[in-house]
Amino acid sequence: MGFRKDFIWGAATASYQIEGAAGEDGKGASIWDHFSHVPGNVFEGHTGDVACDHYHRVSEDVALMKRLGIKNYRFSLSWPRLIPEGTGKVNGAGIDFYNRLIDELLESGIRPFVTLFHWDYPSALQARGAWESPDSPKWFEDYAALCARRFGDRVKDFITFNEPQCFIGLGYCKGEHAPGVRLPASSTIPMSHHVLTAHGLTVRALRELAPGCRVGYAPCGDPRIPATDSPEDIEAARRAYFATPEGEAEWAFSVAWWSDPALLGRYPEDGLARFGQFLPKGWEKDLAVIHQPLDFYAQNIYSGRVVRAADNARGYEPVPRPVGFPKTAIQWPVTPQALYWGPRFLYERYKTPFIITENGMSCHDAVSLDGRVHDPNRQDYMHRYLLALRRAAEDGVDVRGYFAWSLMDNFEWANGYNDRFGLVYVDYATQARTVKDSALWYKMVMEQNGENL
Ligand code: BGC
Repeated sequence: MGFRKDFIWGAATASYQIEGAAGEDGKGASIWDHFSHVPGNVFEGHTGDVACDHYHRVSEDVALMKRLGIKNYRFSLSWPRLIPEGTGKVNGAGIDFYNRLIDELLESGIRPFVTLFHWDYPSALQARGAWESPDSPKWFEDYAALCARRFGDRVKDFITFNEPQCFIGLGYCKGEHAPGVRLPASSTIPMSHHVLTAHGLTVRALRELAPGCRVGYAPCGDPRIPATDSPEDIEAARRAYFATPEGEAEWAFSVAWWSDPALLGRYPEDGLARFGQFLPKGWEKDLAVIHQPLDFYAQNIYSGRVVRAADNARGYEPVPRPVGFPKTAIQWPVTPQALYWGPRFLYERYKTPFIITENGMSCHDAVSLDGRVHDPNRQDYMHRYLLALRRAAEDGVDVRGYFAWSLMDNFEWANGYNDRFGLVYVDYATQARTVKDSALWYKMVMEQNGENL
């Protein structure tokens, strides 16, 4: 059986992580431009000012993708590059840049998957209250409408938000990402409602302004993996996965809080019981807007956590990691079964075609004496995870695609350039790109639709 014949194989990036040209050609500042320039926020003071200089290397990078056999490319648009102040005046040079990228992709036979928001929020709107403002959904809708009008004639696949868990949870609850503030749930819960409302308004706007396009959503959350195949452990994992975590910051990493309203038209009961008091007045009537039919539901999945049934009030407990468990350079555990149980539980609950929009491994890559980059760990990681995903497909999950994170090494947020997730190695001093062994292996996997796994 294996993967569907029309399985979407691809690679992904995000604007702030690769583009550079942070202050060029009329681009406005994003919260990441500010945050990365504050000493102590990012590993060794790294910033995305230049990043992979992709802004100036579009042709080279598209040619590279073509060589690597990449047929689908997920990238994000920088809102402040398109609308420097977040609302109002449009930056023509920003439109030209993305037009060039989209056209070159299409000429090379590569299908663009456009994420509208991957964290580089306009600083001008941050100053106006950001997601806490009741106007914020409308600001986003207007930006999305611009993207639909300008790019929707050629882009047929859109993703509204990338990982609201992280940009709200890490950005506004924990203060580890831009804008680096720590606000109580009484402020961040209204933000979540506004993000979800922006999502719904955007799905509607895209359908109206770019007829025939497909729209998805890409949140995240570590899947829970049952300790055994017993029905009790499976049920324990399911419950743990969709429970809303308690705590001022932890709630933000919930899967259900961010997906149930969009996919099922309601907030999860346990979350509502604890945090419903903070939702903006009249939130119930927004649910109809938030709950829009989606063409695909996506998730970024890197690792999972093992749980088992337990005789306690919650009915489950975490299983401690074994001593010496395998982990990546960024210290995330290697748990391939996350790509089986995650998609399975998500499809069971949301019954919507499913795509992995990110999965990949941070390794200690280096250019070897022979001039090549040998990354057997990354290849092994992807191989194991793809086998798990294939098993999910064979067990009836409607899995439509897989995007490797990332096309190339890039600015890994608060970790700066310390972590390398790319299929292509980037020498930041020269901007030379070197294809890693894993990219050549992935090319074969894509060509053979995963049959060689
Ligand atoms: C994000 C990416 C990030 C990757 C690895 C995801 O959380 O969407 O931007 O680089 O994971 O951390």
